[in-house]
This record gives sequence, C-alpha cells and structure tokens, in this order.
Amino acid sequence: MTRYERFDGGGASLVLAMEDAAPRIVHFGATLPVGSDLAAIDAALAPVRRGSAPDAAPRPSIFPAAGFGWMGPAALTGIGDGDAAMAWRLRRADRSGEAIEVELADDRQRLSVTLSWRFDPGCGVLSATSKVRNEGDQPFAIHALAALSLPLPRWASEILGFAGDWAREVQPRRFAAPPGAWAQVNRTGRTGFAGATFLSLAPDATETRGRVLAFHLGWSGSHVLTLETAADGERQAQLSALLEPGEVVLPPGGEHSSPSAYACFSGEGLTGVRSRFHPFVRERVSPHKGRARRVHFNSWEGVYFDFDEARLMRLAQDASALGVERFVLDDGWFMGRRRDDAGLGDWRVDAAVLPRGLGPLIAEVERLGMDFGLWVEPEMVNPDSDLYRAHPDWCVHAQGADRPTMRNQLWLDLARPEVRDHVVEQLHALLSAHRIAYLKWDCNRMLFPAVSEGRPAGQAIVRGVYAAMDALRARHPDLEIESCASGGGRIDLEILRRADRVWASDTTDAIERVRIQRWASLILPLETIGAHVGPSPNPITGRRLAMDFRAKVAMFGHMGVELDPGRLDTRDMESLKAHIALYKEHRALLHSGALTCWTGDDGVDGRIVVAADGGEALALLARTGVSDLATSAPVRIPGLDAAATYDARLLEPWPRRAAARLADADGWRRPRRLSGAALAESGLRLPLAEPETAWLLHLRRVES
Ligand code: GLA
Repeated sequence: MTRYERFDGGGASLVLAMEDAAPRIVHFGATLPVGSDLAAIDAALAPVRRGSAPDAAPRPSIFPAAGFGWMGPAALTGIGDGDAAMAWRLRRADRSGEAIEVELADDRQRLSVTLSWRFDPGCGVLSATSKVRNEGDQPFAIHALAALSLPLPRWASEILGFAGDWAREVQPRRFAAPPGAWAQVNRTGRTGFAGATFLSLAPDATETRGRVLAFHLGWSGSHVLTLETAADGERQAQLSALLEPGEVVLPPGGEHSSPSAYACFSGEGLTGVRSRFHPFVRERVSPHKGRARRVHFNSWEGVYFDFDEARLMRLAQDASALGVERFVLDDGWFMGRRRDDAGLGDWRVDAAVLPRGLGPLIAEVERLGMDFGLWVEPEMVNPDSDLYRAHPDWCVHAQGADRPTMRNQLWLDLARPEVRDHVVEQLHALLSAHRIAYLKWDCNRMLFPAVSEGRPAGQAIVRGVYAAMDALRARHPDLEIESCASGGGRIDLEILRRADRVWASDTTDAIERVRIQRWASLILPLETIGAHVGPSPNPITGRRLAMDFRAKVAMFGHMGVELDPGRLDTRDMESLKAHIALYKEHRALLHSGALTCWTGDDGVDGRIVVAADGGEALALLARTGVSDLATSAPVRIPGLDAAATYDARLLEPWPRRAAARLADADGWRRPRRLSGAALAESGLRLPLAEPETAWLLHLRRVES
C-alpha cells in the first residue's frame, strides 16, 4: 500500500510516496488543488515498460541505491566487511507538521539512514539532511553521502551553475544539461568563490517567468553538486560534502551526518527563487534579528597597513562626517603585523602600531556616535608568530612533509579542541577587554592538506570552525560577525547561521559588483551582502568610476565605505554623504522587501525591491557597458502591481553626465504618476546609454 505525504508552502507542493523502499517524489512543483487525489497523480505517472532495461528496476527515489537495477547515482556509497550493494527498506516515517523523518535500513549491510526533511510552509524552501548509522559490529567506511538527492522532472533540462575566482565571484553559466553527468566541484576547503548554489530550470525560464528548481548546500568546505542523467534518461540532482578516502569510518554504533541542503521550486523564474530564499534566510537562518544595518567604514582599501593612532582617529572623524555608523579596523593592528607575512595567531594589540592600545581609538569612535568593529583571521597562523613558535604542531599539516603556505600562512587545526579553545579564549579576551560590536572574520587560505593528526579531516576542521564561532557567539550574544574569505570565498547558509553578513568580494569595483551582488542575491537577502564604496581608480581592477555610480551600487547591499575620505574632493564627499543619507532613509525597505533583478531591453541592469505591503519600491537602473543603441531604450520595470498607480521619482543626487541629457528634467523633479502596467509594459526612457550610469527610481503607490 502506498501512502502519500503532502507538504505545501510558498506557492509549491511537495508530495512523497511512501512504500516499502525509499520514498519517491510524486510532485515538487506548483501548488496542487486542495483535496487532490494524490494516488491518481501517482498512478498517472507509472513508468512505461521499455526495452533493454532491468525487468523491475527501482523507481527514482530520494535515497537511491546502486546495485539492484537503478542506473543513476547512489545517495550513499561505502563499504564495511561485505559487498557494497545496498537496498533500502522503509523502517519508519514520522511526520510532524512541516517536518518528516524517514528511517531507511539495509539489513544486509546493517546500516540505517535517517533523512530529515522540513518544508517551510511560509517560504516553500525544503531543508534536508541525511544521517548514516552503523548498526553492525564491523566498521563501515563512507565514501560519499548526499545531503539531498532529488529526481528531476524532464522540464528541468537546463543548468544555471557558477564559476568563480578571487575578486571574480559567482559568474553565471547557463547551458543545456549535458548527457552523462555535470558537476560543480569545490576542493578548496572553503565554500569557494563560485558558491554552493545551482539551478535546474526549464529552457524558457527567465528572471521573472518559468519553472526553476534551485539548490544550495549549506557547507563551508569542499563539496560536489551534481546533476546526472542516467542511461534511461532519469535525472538526479545530488548535493554532498566531499569526503576524502578513509575520512569517515563509522565504528559499530557510529553515526555521520551530512550538512543541510536546501531546495525550492519557483514558477516565477529567478525572482521566485529570491522571494523564497530571502524570507527563509531572514526568518530561519540569520542570527541578525531585525536590527538596522549600520553604515560601515572599513580601513582596508583606504590605508591598508599604513596607519597609526592619529591616522585612524582622522579616518574615524572623516567617516563620521559622512554619516558612517560603524568604524571597522581591518588588518594590521596586532602583533608584528606590518605586512601579510607575520602576526596571525597573536591577537594582541601591537604597541608599535597603537602604543595606547585600542582603548583611545574606540573611545573616539564612540564619541563620534559610531560603534567599533575589528578584523581577525582566527583560523590562521603565520610561521612568523609567537603562537607558531610556541606550538608548531598546532597547524594543519601532513606529518613529516613540507608545510606549504598560502599568503604566507597556515591553517590552525580547529578539529583539535585544545587549539579551538585557545583561539576562542584569545578572541574572548579581546571582546571582554573592549567594546567591540563586530568582527570581520576572515579566512585567506585554502585548506591543504585537509588532515588532522595523521588522518584526513576536511569535515572535522570545518566543523571546528563552526564550533569556535558558536562558542564565541554563546559568550557574546550581541556580537555581529562577517564571514569573509579573501572576499566571497565562504558564503553559504551554514556560515550564515553564525555570520550576520558576508563580504561578497574583495573587488569594490562597482561594475564588477553589479554582477556579484546580483548573483549573490539569488540566495542571500541584500542586507547580508556587504557592499562598500571603494576608491577610484579601483585598487584591484584599476578602473576609474564616478562616485555617483559607486555609491548607488553599494546602496543595494549592506552599505559601507572603504576608502580614505581625506582623498576625496568636496563634490565626491557631498555625493557620498548624500547617498549614505539615502541608504539610511530606504534601508528598512531594501532590507525587508522582495527583490527582483532583471536585464532591460537594451542591457540595462535593473533591480527593484518592493515593500511587503506593495506600498513602496526602490529600483536601481544601472548601465555597466556601452549600449548598442545611441538612444536609450525605455526601461520597463517589473515587480509592481499592474493595477496600482504609483508616484515615480528619480531620487537625487542624479548622475551628472546623464542628468544633463535628461529630457524634461524639471518634470522629473516632481513625482510622475504612472500605473504599474505602464511601468511594466512601456517603461521610462532615461539617459542610460553610457557606461557607469545609474539611476534610483522610487515608487510610492497612490492610495485611491
Ligand atoms: C582579505 C580580505 C580583505 C582584507 C584583507 C586584509 O583579503 O578579503 O577584505 O581584510 O584580507 O589582509
């Protein structure tokens, strides 16, 4: 007898068929009518007999096993003291509201697997983890374990995956699912610059329309996201943390859990992915509880290592005059740290840099009405440090081998409790001695070799990082943390359980940032994406960009300033100040509304945040390259209520060069009254043909 479990939420329904074996997916898509006959739906999908196939092959399931006719990938592979063939029997399925726990067992291998699934009834985001337990009396070595294994519908024939590199994060790649297997693999020991997200979508899916399945792995280490098309055409998506051979060997009674994987169905293209994941992250993941995101100043791109107390005081004064609310002292303040080749591990203020310590600086920052943040890189150690000299064996290393560095540093072995405790105690001492509201927690090295005390340990080291952050947060509950890893190298929903925001990229080049912030926002709400106004020329790309453009792009994130204000001319100072004021005025909307990103008819990059009650919206219309057309095509604005009327205003300051070409500039100094339908269908013609031009369009619904 087949039983059905149905879950609804976020405009989607998920239906599982429960039989003797691993559950099957009957439906994961648009909401089914109330009272739908689930058995009838399932029966209508019964497989058709085909030639050259096993006579009784298992149907695609959420925990497939190889060895008995299923030709796709298995969710668990490994070996104990017998053969490696597995066949899962359903032992129990306990439903409790929006969650279900399914226990599967293989009596030959003497293994059980618990799949914990939760389908968020508000957002329609599925969270899934798998746990394996060795019920035998011999060790069992796990080779691979999927956190989520999901059969895909045939319409999901395209993939939108990501590539990435330092300062070049989240580059989208869209293509037809290839025959055989596709994999997005990361072996860096961090989440990686490509992130841990991919979409499986219908060929006609766009930013705002069409069917999409979105997948994300909440894991800050090496991983593999795969989509495999089996010989019989069945497709399966799998998301797994990567295990090294011999890394997880379960003793009798031992257990191993996967990280959490997430998935959602959207019938409204990529916008629907954002409108599901953003509330999910806000309500279920982020530790940041509704406090306004303060405007940051960060010292890095302004002064790098070149500072003393007087210079920092001056920066703080300049920052506060701009309207900044938090002063973050980046790298260079601790023992011996005058370059990037010494000091990591010794988290004490270097009297050679700040003879009076942090106290007077923090007092000045607070006198100016700001709070104080500090850069740390707790997982790391430079060979040139007191910590390394005292404990050379505390770093991650292969015994008896060279210790290759990256950025002159080694990883501390946080899998070892004594190392972890030391790191936590040092940070605790700093946080206890000073009022520090915020830590920028950096991680500027890849994890190699991923070993601990002579054993492969990529998993244990990543979990050690989580444990250190958890211990610190438990002792300092009001502390805010940013996750940074040479920019956006550690952005995922598991770190986001501990980090209030992420540093999306080391590049503050606003043209690069338009892309990076757009794709980071596929999963992350804007308030979690650190976005700073950097210097011009940009230190990484060398590109010169107008302050107006840099500031408008930074507003669509968690805004900050990362330059030396003392080097700005008066006009740029005034522009930056005005944009910071605009950000403060609109951040409540930007950080709670629904985000749509789109590309306009002639390539304008648009994004709009619409308030939850639909009463207000703010759009950024940005041109990064030169338009093919000398005249600007009208920009059509999606996301609004077609039947409503809006007062549309171009927020000032305006981009100067473009504003000189604005037709009827006087008319634009007052709101224009337009329907949502007109905005969506005919749009607005603004001077947007030249690169690095951006406009802010504010919309307020006219109540009738
Ligand atoms: C990394 C970070 C930067 C900065 C430097 C400091 O590269 O990504 O933002 O903090 O380290 O060394």
